Amino acid sequence: MRVVVTGGAGYIGAHVARALRLAGHEAIVVDDLRAASASRVGDLVFEKVALEDTERICGVFERYRPDGVVHLAGSASVAESVRHPEVYWDNNLRSGASLLVACARYPVRAFLFSSTAAVYGNAEVVPIREDSPLKPTTPYGASKLAFERLLHTAARAVGFRSTALRYFNAAGANPEWGVGEEHDPEEHLIPRAIEALAGGGNVQIYGNDYPTPDGTCVRDYVHVDDLADAHVRALEAENLESGRSFNVGTGRGHSVREVVETVASRLGIAPRFDFKDRRPGDPPTLIADASALGEHLDWSPRVSDLDYIVATAVDWAHRRTI
Ligand SMILES: NC(=O)c1ccc[n+]([C@@H]2O[C@H](COP(=O)([O-])OP(=O)(O)OC[C@H]3O[C@@H](n4cnc5c(N)ncnc54)[C@H](O)[C@@H]3O)[C@@H](O)[C@H]2O)c1
Repeated sequence: MRVVVTGGAGYIGAHVARALRLAGHEAIVVDDLRAASASRVGDLVFEKVALEDTERICGVFERYRPDGVVHLAGSASVAESVRHPEVYWDNNLRSGASLLVACARYPVRAFLFSSTAAVYGNAEVVPIREDSPLKPTTPYGASKLAFERLLHTAARAVGFRSTALRYFNAAGANPEWGVGEEHDPEEHLIPRAIEALAGGGNVQIYGNDYPTPDGTCVRDYVHVDDLADAHVRALEAENLESGRSFNVGTGRGHSVREVVETVASRLGIAPRFDFKDRRPGDPPTLIADASALGEHLDWSPRVSDLDYIVATAVDWAHRRTI
């Protein structure tokens, strides 16, 4: 298939685009580099376009006539979304809607969307199934849920297959592709822990009085290669019903404290923490029930063991600073 990968210069998109190419597809990266550098695009076909520029994005579709779209581009900082919700309505909704205009003018067969566990908010039943109540607690989660709904409606109207993948915590790096995690500012735990500990500092942990075994939040970490594999399968699926949203996670949770200890052990040093107040909107535990993805796409996490995730993230951090 010929596939437009929006946000393909980003952390997850760079992995998805390479995994698609490895599986024999043609990936066209569309990214305006607002949150990434061109170096992550490597030798992939690349169009530097902002999605909200509807005429230019339609021009890309006219030139390439893609069969599929993987839509990863977006604003993805929970904290920023609380400070500036308007950025999230604008980029996660308006830019997405602009991409849907291109899909209406130049029909594709399948459209995958990068959604998030944040659509569930403070889930009361864990592991979280896709039919759990959808009650996002942040503008980020709300913007992702709103786009899921718009997408599924548009897919019905235009006649393409839509699938949303609700990622839990993406982490790690492919050991060979040289395209690891790098956000600015970095809010994700593993790269933050590596940077703090390797630099001789302490890792800030927000809250140690949660109702969890060690008092710190529990999250479900999925290796970015497993995540990329889920995209390849979802795109290739022949008989997947349109309009479905699937969790992508492992069904296992690790506490923030445990993750920091694993990073420290990989660096060969003692863990050091600073406990801070809880952050507003942080649910105590987020663990996926990803059995639907297993059932429909025969997907299971193969490389999402925490030690391997941390090892590949540390290797990437070393390579980056060489
Ligand atoms: N990282 C995670 O753990 C996680 C978890 C759940 C969901 N997600 C979702 O996955 C997607 C990718 O996440 P990531 O961590 O790779 O983020 P990232 O910031 O590394 O990548 C996003 C990319 O999109 C590009 N972009 C943003 N807005 C654009 C626009 N309007 N036009 C063109 N390009 C634009 C950026 O330049 C960047 O390269 C995001 O949509 C995010 O919400 C990520």
